[in-house]
Amino acid sequence: MHSSNVHVIDHPLVQHKLSLMRNKEASTNSFRRLLNELSMLMAYEVTRDVPMQEIDMETPLEKTRVKVIDGKKLVFVSILRAGTGILDGMLSVVPGARVGHIGLYRDPKTLTAVEYYFKMPQNMEERDIIVVDPMLATGNSAIAAVERLKELGPKSIKFVCLLTCPEGVANLQKAHPDVPIYTAAIDRELNDHGYILPGLGDAGDRMFGTK
Ligand code: URA
Repeated sequence: MHSSNVHVIDHPLVQHKLSLMRNKEASTNSFRRLLNELSMLMAYEVTRDVPMQEIDMETPLEKTRVKVIDGKKLVFVSILRAGTGILDGMLSVVPGARVGHIGLYRDPKTLTAVEYYFKMPQNMEERDIIVVDPMLATGNSAIAAVERLKELGPKSIKFVCLLTCPEGVANLQKAHPDVPIYTAAIDRELNDHGYILPGLGDAGDRMFGTK
């Protein structure tokens, strides 16, 4: 199941922070701080192969050519509302990135994802997209978000989450085999209510203190 398109980021710093986030006693403040730190570390892995460009630079000693990331070509797309937590951490290490937002809610009758908000930067066909959402559970919102983004013809799409489960990975990969998944862990299973087990609960509620 762990095809080459699924990257589990097993760095000890990432694993340690994720473990602390699972604690039901963690405060909103500490949950949010850990998510922020974890997202910075995940950004490091996810951006490992982003294109670089050469520019002129003058050191105190001489002129030279140096490599820099063309940050403007990168777009972080946050799936509302829980994506915001990952987005903040990623932006602190890639401050030049552009940002898009997709709002999706789950229709209680059909359980499918319904779009209520969609705002992207211009010229998406020139850009590499990194979609962020902490929990890849059923995969329904991730699949819908990627489908919508593909209509804009971007250069590439990657998906980043904190946590997923075999069902989420399988569903997203089936619908979009070309989209690599980056995650800190693949947990045991999805329960009947669409929660990941053992998981960490409702990521949105925990980061915003809404429960
Ligand atoms: N969304 C969450 O916030 N938590 C889960 O376990 C599954 C989906």
